[in-house]
Formats: sequence, C-alpha cells, structure tokens
Amino acid sequence: MASAGMRIAVFLTLALFPAALAQAPSPTATPKGPPNITAVLEKGGQYTTLIRLMKSTQQDTQLNSQLNNSFNGNGYTVFAPTDNAFNSLKPGTLNSLTQQQQVSLVQGHILPQYYTFDLFETASNPVRTQASGKDGPYTLNITANTQNQLNVSSGVVEITVNNALSVVKPLAVYSVDKVLLPLELFGAKAPAAAPTASKAPKKGGSSGAASGPAGSDDSTDDSTGAASARAVGWSVAGLAAVLGYLL
Ligand SMILES: *[C@@H]1O[C@H](CO)[C@@H](O)[C@H](O)[C@H]1NC(C)=O
Ligand SMILES: *[C@@H]1O[C@H](CO)[C@@H](O)[C@H](O)[C@H]1NC(C)=O
Ligand SMILES: *[C@@H]1O[C@H](CO)[C@@H](O)[C@H](O)[C@H]1NC(C)=O
Ligand SMILES: *[C@@H]1O[C@H](CO)[C@@H](O)[C@H](O)[C@H]1NC(C)=O
Repeated sequence: MASAGMRIAVFLTLALFPAALAQAPSPTATPKGPPNITAVLEKGGQYTTLIRLMKSTQQDTQLNSQLNNSFNGNGYTVFAPTDNAFNSLKPGTLNSLTQQQQVSLVQGHILPQYYTFDLFETASNPVRTQASGKDGPYTLNITANTQNQLNVSSGVVEITVNNALSVVKPLAVYSVDKVLLPLELFGAKAPAAAPTASKAPKKGGSSGAASGPAGSDDSTDDSTGAASARAVGWSVAGLAAVLGYLL
C-alpha cells in the first residue's frame, strides 16, 4: 500500500515538475564570470603578438569590459592572427602605423556580434567591424559553407578560416593565419613612396633649376621624406616660375 502510494507520488512529481528530472543530471558547467579575451588567447599559446598589440592599444580592457555587459547584447567575434601571421608581414609593417592606426588594425579583427560557424551563414556582406574611419566602418566580406569553413576578405587579404579557438557565447574567437590588413590602411589608395617620388622629378622637370634639389634628395625612402622632397620641388619650381615671370 505504502509503496504504491510512493510510486504515485514520484509519478506525480515527475509529471508535474519535469524540470526536476531534466535538471538533475546537468553537468557542473556554471559560467564563471564574463569571458576574457586575453585568457582565451593565452590559452591558445600562439598569440603573443596579438596579446601585446591589444594591450598597447588598450583593446583588451576595452573588449573585456564590453563583454562583461554583453550577455544580453550581441556579443563579439574576434579573428585572432597567430604569431606566424604577424611574423610573415613585411618587416616594419606594424611600426609604420600610428597608434590610432594600430587601434584600427586591432578593431578591424573584431566584429560587434557573436558568430558561430552556422550564424556566419546568415551574415550579410559587407560585415562591419569595430573599426571605423572617415568613410564609415571598416568591413569584411565573409562567405561560409556548411563544412565549418569561412572565406574572409578585407579587400587586401583573403583567408580561409576553419579553426575555432573558443566559441562560447558571448565571445567567439577564430584563429587566422594572416593579418587582415584593412583596405582603409593598406589599400591602393594609401600613399606609397614610389608614385610620389616618380612624380616629383616630372613636376620639377619644367624648370631645370628645380629638378636639382628635389632629385638629389632621393636617398630617403620613407614616405615623409618623399613628401617633403616633393614639397621642396614644388616650392622651388614655384619660386622659379615667379622669378621667371617677374624677369
Ligand atoms: C583576463 O585574463 C588575464 C590573463 O589571464 C588577466 O591578467 C586579467 O586580469 C583578466 N582580466 C579580467 C578583466 O578578468
Ligand atoms: C563586471 O561587471 C560587474 C558589475 O558591473 C563588476 O562587479 C565586475 O567586477 C566586472 N567584471 C569584470 C571582469 O570586469
Ligand atoms: C573559399 O575559397 C576557396 C578558393 O577560392 C573555395 O574553393 C572555397 O569553396 C571557398 N569557401 C567558401 C566557404 O566560400
Ligand atoms: C566586398 O564585396 C563587394 C562586392 O563584391 C565589394 O565591392 C567590396 O569591395 C568588398 N569589400 C571587401 C572589404 O572585401
């Protein structure tokens, strides 16, 4: 009698409170605080350059504090270039950037939305990043297939991504083997020393006196030097033109 009553009680409990059954065997995975991009990268073991760059640009604390508040927001996705990716850049590439450009470079690897591989299939291009300039946000074009593979293009660099480092809402981190150089910083429009240097002698060529000083300064190979050489060329040419006019 008692055991039949007990069985009925257990039956009623499970029937009326199925959650009690569902929750009993749940694993011990209680989320411990907000995710930490630095900790994820440190655990990955091959992101020391990115960690350093995020630190010097304060994007680590920036992102971590945003993550702390984003449990009800869209979350974040980070494309994390490996140390090899940074090492294969042209020497001096990072140092050629201003502090603000380094911030933009890092932010250009961060999407203000949490994407799993599946969610990437629903993303519409161009996908905006955290970086923005005077022409609006820096963007990436991202295509995904059903085999957990992405093609990501910055307009300058195109890579295939298939290595998820950590994908735990609200932070997804994917390993990438190239730095996604932004179009805005490294595109064809960006000033290069070569074209301006070849322009300078042509400009000064209209006046024999002007081509001397401008041309003799071509030992400098940085763009600032080329720009000032060009400025000298122009001002000398302008002076010669004015003198020629007056005489
Ligand atoms: C994130 O992790 C790094 C490295 O483990 C640690 O130094 C830092 O204090 C952590 N930041 C936060 C906000 O918990
Ligand atoms: C996250 O925010 C809470 C409340 O605002 C704060 O107490 C906590 O220290 C923050 N944690 C981190 C890791 O920043
Ligand atoms: C990525 O590009 C490669 C080569 O261009 C192509 O074979 C592959 O199908 C593309 N994958 C996706 C997900 O678009
Ligand atoms: C993305 O694709 C569009 C259309 O093909 C193109 O105009 C744009 O330049 C691309 N942007 C990037 C960052 O690759």
